[in-house]
Amino acid sequence: MPIQIFETYEALSQRVADEIIRRLQEKPASVLCLAAGDTPRRAYQLLSERAAKEALDFSRCSFIGLDEWVGIPPENEGSCSYFLHQNLFQPLGIDAAQVNLFDGLARDSDAECRRMNSVVKEKGGIDLMLVGVGMNGHIGFNEPGVGEGLYAHVINLDETTRSVGQKYFLQTTKLARGITLGLRHVLESRQLIMMASGRKKADVMRKALEDPISMEVPASIIRKHPRAVTMLDKEAASLLRQGKSA
Ligand code: F6R
Repeated sequence: MPIQIFETYEALSQRVADEIIRRLQEKPASVLCLAAGDTPRRAYQLLSERAAKEALDFSRCSFIGLDEWVGIPPENEGSCSYFLHQNLFQPLGIDAAQVNLFDGLARDSDAECRRMNSVVKEKGGIDLMLVGVGMNGHIGFNEPGVGEGLYAHVINLDETTRSVGQKYFLQTTKLARGITLGLRHVLESRQLIMMASGRKKADVMRKALEDPISMEVPASIIRKHPRAVTMLDKEAASLLRQGKSA
């Protein structure tokens, strides 16, 4: 699995934006599953700037949500839904009909998982999945110890995710469970990009990329994907034994 290392977060973000645009140009009706969170924020800004300048046409794309906090409404600023609307869908002028996100308030969360599994299937699968990596090695909300064969599911969030997740919220918020696409979706995506930035991710990226593949570090599953790439800034790559530059 290729590992690309960039001098700066800005350069990393530029490349991620380039890859999303490339996918769009190769297949205008792409099915995109793009993570929320701090890591891809700049890539989405760059994408929006270029969409305006280059008149990129996203009108045939579909967007699939990767995950959501259970019990958090979409209008809460810490929800994945809120983030994606603010940083991606509104700036790109995406129509609501193109967007399929998890409902964190769904009464029947198993039915919500089945609904999202069906959406992914009906759309013909995910063309490009972009994931960030949690401090505990999660991708989406596939927490340490998760089953590798799962599609969408609800999961108890581990302590790291509960505490780190507070950064997205204006007030201290009880975070107990997440609803997420599963690692099976990750492995079945046609193209997978994993991105990480900053010194604080260096240790988990070393585990994900260099220790034996283990669901104790779910991000390590990327090495089983035939068309995946990991993109890191220099700081996130700083503990890798073997550096490779982009
Ligand atoms: C968000 C998501 C999470 C984040 C991860 C890293 O949709 O799926 O797995 O990608 O927690 O978060 P940041 O980018 O804020 O460090």
